[in-house]
Amino acid sequence: MRPTYSMTFNIAILPGDGIGPEVIAQAKKALDAIADIYNHTFIYREALMGAIAIDQTGNPLPEETIDICEDSDAILFGAIGDPKYDNDPKAKVRPEQGLLRLRKQLGLFCNIRPVKAYDKLIDKSPLKRHIISGTDISIYRELTGGIYFGEKTLSEDGTVATDGCSYSVEEIERIAHLAFKAAQERRNKLTLVDKANVLETSRLWRRVVTEMAPQYPDVTLDFLFVDNAAMQIILNPKQFDVILTENLFGDIISDEASVIGGSIGLLASASVGKDNALFEPIHGSFPQATGKDIANPLASILSAAMLLTHLGLNEEANAIERAVQKSLELEITTEDINPDKPFSTSKVGDFIEDYILNQEDSNFNFTNVHMGQSTII
Ligand code: IPM
Ligand code: MG
Repeated sequence: MRPTYSMTFNIAILPGDGIGPEVIAQAKKALDAIADIYNHTFIYREALMGAIAIDQTGNPLPEETIDICEDSDAILFGAIGDPKYDNDPKAKVRPEQGLLRLRKQLGLFCNIRPVKAYDKLIDKSPLKRHIISGTDISIYRELTGGIYFGEKTLSEDGTVATDGCSYSVEEIERIAHLAFKAAQERRNKLTLVDKANVLETSRLWRRVVTEMAPQYPDVTLDFLFVDNAAMQIILNPKQFDVILTENLFGDIISDEASVIGGSIGLLASASVGKDNALFEPIHGSFPQATGKDIANPLASILSAAMLLTHLGLNEEANAIERAVQKSLELEITTEDINPDKPFSTSKVGDFIEDYILNQEDSNFNFTNVHMGQSTII
């Protein structure tokens, strides 16, 4: 059943660096197909962030980009980073500063990274099938505090550097509430990952989260030190439901957990704040693949699905997810998961678009796509 109402949304698009523009172009195709089928209007406003913004304006996050993002209902972002900065520790301006400032400026304090083992991809993972099959984890990573945003110093002679790490009760509580609520909607388990045997900030996390637990009596709370968590995630990932953790630990364990899904090219994420939300694939700018039409667009496409859910368009989000599921089933996928008969980035995007537009048409012959003829017969 298609809804008869039509809605208009402003979506800020930040293609960013590396493969960002290629994969975001596919996510836009999916959104346009949704707009077409469900009668919505998506008004896109594109803006610069990252190395491309430095090249064009000298600033990784121009004012105009902040304005466009603040005025939007949601933000879709591609990737950030360029090797010319990675290999230059002296660079004063870095692409990544753009993303960090945007997170801070918009107050995007809660980063949600779902990790699922897709049945079709389990054998692509370096981990054993029986270990990862059935895994379904949601990582809640704090995104605007901790060591990322603490005071940084470098001694005058350049021989000593520091990065401060601080957290307040308020910063911990606001994300912990979201994580507890997510656990209630899922399998009622919350694991706090910290380093409370060493770090004062981690002890504060433990205290605050423990004190909140009675408000969520149906959620079982447990704790893991981050080093042990890093091991448990690949030893027995099925034990996890919602993982809550601070900024740096979340950065590291979410990349680690992506291995379970078979490809980092499939992992989407949402970064939400009080008034704004940003959606992005977690894979990064993958410079070696830039411009080659080989990067996996599914993480961006799934990020667009998360964006739709955030806008309250659940049925529309499901339509994208079904299309992704179908592309995996039919192996209409890029070389990272389909090395023998790979499809290009844009062909995968075309398939997703076609499938959304024709999903209810039983005459649509999907096998044609395999012959490069994504047409309706
Ligand atoms: C991520 C990325 C960023 C981070 C970088 C690009 C600054 O690794 O979103 O996980 O460390 O947060
Ligand atoms: Mg990261």
